[in-house]
Amino acid sequence: MIKLSHIYKTYHGPTHALRNINFEIEKGEFVFLTGPSGAGKTTLFKMISAYDKPTSGKVTVGDFSVEQLRLSEIPFYRRKVGVVFQDFKLLKNKTLFENVALPLIIRGDTTDFIKTKVMDTLELLGIQHKHNQYPEFISGGEQQRVAIARAIIHQPFILIADEPTGNLDPTLAQEIMQILEQICAQGTTVFVATHDTFLIDKYKKRRIEIHKGEILETSP
Ligand SMILES: Nc1ncnc2c1ncn2[C@@H]1O[C@H](COP(=O)(O)OP(=O)(O)OP(=O)(O)O)[C@@H](O)[C@H]1O
Ligand SMILES: [Mg+2]
Repeated sequence: MIKLSHIYKTYHGPTHALRNINFEIEKGEFVFLTGPSGAGKTTLFKMISAYDKPTSGKVTVGDFSVEQLRLSEIPFYRRKVGVVFQDFKLLKNKTLFENVALPLIIRGDTTDFIKTKVMDTLELLGIQHKHNQYPEFISGGEQQRVAIARAIIHQPFILIADEPTGNLDPTLAQEIMQILEQICAQGTTVFVATHDTFLIDKYKKRRIEIHKGEILETSP
């Protein structure tokens, strides 16, 4: 489902943000991406979600050769992929409902379908009562849940989530993990970057660990 072969990424200067990254994730797997700050986790996710291109190497997701996508093909590809950004990227001047509805509006779904689907998804995340609120008037944890709702609303075949529990207390973090597991159980491949050693120890998922842009180990 996701295959990275000989991925290198260099920004400016001689150091590699990613160096010879190779791994494969099967359809329906749940995998943690771990490693210290600056290791290259967000950079790696950008390669998979087509927000940036590798300097060299191949990224295959399903039938897509991601690094070869033309600019005009990228919006179509992104409709198949769910992304929870580390900094949420919620639209300030739109309500929670409107933020979450966006992928469905872009896809051209009917108003009735959108209404039901968005409210069901907000309910799944426990924030349906805030649907008319604007992002700056809700807590960090609630914003995080809106970002997850928006990432899963269009039933993507892969979900990549960059520190989706970063701002949550342990109880909420576990609730989010259970939601991500539920999404995975429905057939979505889930790839989660996290620093949270409690979650890593508790949930015993396969782990890909990177340090300074290189894979340190994969487990099991
Ligand atoms: N747009 C950019 N331009 C230049 N360097 C960058 C850019 N984005 C990331 N880097 C560098 O690439 C390296 C990896 O950064 P990245 O954001 O992928 O780390 P990370 O593992 O996600 O860290 P964190 O846990 O803090 O989110 C860092 O050294 C960072 O400074
Ligand atoms: Mg990051």
